[in-house]
Amino acid sequence: MNHSPFLLQHTTAYQRWRDQKLAHWPADKASLLTELDGPQPAAHTIQRLKATVRQHNMAFYRFPAPEQIGRPEVHALATRMGLIHLHANLCADPDSLSAIQVTRHENQHDYIPYTDRQLSWHTDGYYQAPAEQIHGMLLHCVRPARQGGESRFMDHEIAYILLREADPAFITALMHPQTLTIPANILHGKIIRPRQHGPVFSINPDGSLHMRYSARQKNILWRRDPATQAAAAFLLQLWEQDSPWKVQYRLQAGEGVLCNNVLHCRSGFVDHDEPQQGRLLYRGRYTDRVGQDHPAPPPSFKTLS
Ligand SMILES: [Fe+2]
Repeated sequence: MNHSPFLLQHTTAYQRWRDQKLAHWPADKASLLTELDGPQPAAHTIQRLKATVRQHNMAFYRFPAPEQIGRPEVHALATRMGLIHLHANLCADPDSLSAIQVTRHENQHDYIPYTDRQLSWHTDGYYQAPAEQIHGMLLHCVRPARQGGESRFMDHEIAYILLREADPAFITALMHPQTLTIPANILHGKIIRPRQHGPVFSINPDGSLHMRYSARQKNILWRRDPATQAAAAFLLQLWEQDSPWKVQYRLQAGEGVLCNNVLHCRSGFVDHDEPQQGRLLYRGRYTDRVGQDHPAPPPSFKTLS
């Protein structure tokens, strides 16, 4: 972290990193997509995916035969990408891949991901305790909606650059340990997740950047100082604008995205009339970042088939 480009005092390191980062941003977003060569992709295909994530913190993939792809294949792909340690949330299935579809969970809140409503910009797990931060994320589309349900993504390192270029004081504010507080999650009078606070931007032990963010306006408390308020407003206004740094993509059956928990959002959608044909995505949240090499799935892994 000695010469971290993410620390304000390292101007030269930051400028060099920023220039390289922006110069590599693809004019043609299609280059972010890798066509997989089968249910168990070849090693060179995995390397291409990893290289894309190393550069842009996200990579899209497409399996050739979507009907052959179930949870085991999705899990195996994640594992080969270094996404090993799944984090189970309240609504996750027993193998910890969450099935994102319109549904109701008994005795749970009406969580927006499980509705057909729009989902505002966020990184996953922004309400998690510091030791349980989400560093990697996978979304795999089994079935798209009849209409809508499009996703947008932004590399959180690009968001960092846009903020720092606008006003370096934004970075200081967003790295403050009390920047963003999420009130406790209380259901039927019982605390099911305690109040959490932490920074928006933090630097991981390996030197990479982590972002913890939600654009939601309810159940979220920004630190009450002018720089924090201005930084939060800057981000909100960024989501309203067209930007060459946003990737807009509607995942089709057999397609997915692997990422280092970049910023993302989802438009609302109209589902199919038959519930069995409704939009279905598998989501995995991991405490790992993409890119570490692991030869085999963890022994504790069980499939639901
Ligand atoms: Fe998400």
